[in-house]
Amino acid sequence: MNLFLDSPLNALKEYVACASVSADSNFHEGLVAAQNFAQAGLSQLGFEVDLIETPGNPIILGTRGDPSWPRLVIYGHYDVQPPDPLDLWTSEPFHAVERNGRLYGRGAADNKGPQIVHMSALARVFKENPNYPVHITYLIEGEEEIGSPSFRGFLEKNKERLKGDMLLVSDTGSPGPDQLVVTTGLRGLCALEVNVFGPKQDLHSGVHGGALYNPLQALMRICSSLHDKDGKVTVPGFYDNVRPPEKWELDELSKLPITEKSYAEFLGVQKFFPPPGYSALEGIRFCPTLELNGVGGGYQGEGSKTVIPAEAFAKITCRLVPDQKADDIAQKVENALIAASPPEIRIEVKSKGGGDPYVLIPPGKPGSSGEESDFMIKAFTQAETCIRNNFGTKPIFLREGGSIPIIQDLKEVAGLDSLMVGLFTNEDNLHAPDESFHLGIMNKAIDSFEEFFRGLV
Ligand code: BES
Ligand code: MN
Repeated sequence: MNLFLDSPLNALKEYVACASVSADSNFHEGLVAAQNFAQAGLSQLGFEVDLIETPGNPIILGTRGDPSWPRLVIYGHYDVQPPDPLDLWTSEPFHAVERNGRLYGRGAADNKGPQIVHMSALARVFKENPNYPVHITYLIEGEEEIGSPSFRGFLEKNKERLKGDMLLVSDTGSPGPDQLVVTTGLRGLCALEVNVFGPKQDLHSGVHGGALYNPLQALMRICSSLHDKDGKVTVPGFYDNVRPPEKWELDELSKLPITEKSYAEFLGVQKFFPPPGYSALEGIRFCPTLELNGVGGGYQGEGSKTVIPAEAFAKITCRLVPDQKADDIAQKVENALIAASPPEIRIEVKSKGGGDPYVLIPPGKPGSSGEESDFMIKAFTQAETCIRNNFGTKPIFLREGGSIPIIQDLKEVAGLDSLMVGLFTNEDNLHAPDESFHLGIMNKAIDSFEEFFRGLV
């Protein structure tokens, strides 16, 4: 019996049942269950599997085939986002159930469903041809949703094992079952935490108010200095290295079956607020951002409280585009925060890591390197054909707004470029309650990848 041949759906249900939340140490058992699932799954497919310890969650590394064959590396992550807020789920997040042609559960789309797609397609290919002549290194990490803190160390130690002709990733999105996207770039990320300190303790605002700079007020002023009124980031040098999209990328964008109006309706907003020079649909792909993700300080309970808080904090992340560098932007933002902070308070800025953006101009597109391996060229052509054959339309080649920071690391350290086929959609509610995976996409994607893998040799 082979789980992937018999029922990819049941395989996905089993995988979702492993509550593998990387952000919360209470989920240790679920992480171990997901590691066991991934390990057993790859073994069943005929991979030799190692569980590689790291300072954080172990990384699963499977290999099969003769090293002299063309070499493909496949990436996935077994960790998922926290399920909170729990009361907004229609069914249990870690008990996957089918409704309206979707499978609901945390991680169903990001990224367990897409991994089951690759594994099920490989199961079919290996069944027919156990000696399928492609060497495959299967890499599944467990810290993607917390910024992959252990990955760089793992990569440096294991880069020889990760050498290959190409990386295959399905951890990005598409507009829907009638139109897939081949993702040609990902935004980078840098995260900062800002703390502002005033008096040594919370104070009565009647007794002491009038003498002090309230730290919350100072923080609001500092944070609001980071954008101008049009939404442009004012951090000096922020846009210096932004590479504008190629003409072909704008042409591809115009093929998206999404209008600004339908997008606004989907999000429930009246009007967009992209920075000057970008449309909303351009902004989410080609434009860097600086976002306040959380601010806090002072009284948060019911009713009012007359207090001057002793401190306040903000959490900030920037999404970065080529050719910005995460370290450089983090430093620039830190400088701007410090420059904007008044002398009456003390400010502390901590950089919380991130990763550089990734972009690939696919073989044959204007501006491509022309030095791609034959394997890579074949893979891109093959992906286009198989998607068209199974989904009825050719894929659009487009950069994506989300981040998978290790993709650029794998490029830099192991020389791997990525073929990324988007299998989840906006309706899948990634990172939110009622996450689900579209089963129509899942089944067609298994057929597509079966054809894809066959056509590689
Ligand atoms: N699968 C997503 C990345 C993604 C989302 C790519 C949407 C394309 C479209 C990934 O699991 C994710 O959420 N990454 C985090 C990275 C962060 C925690 C470092 C992100 O983008 O916020
Ligand atoms: Mn993901």
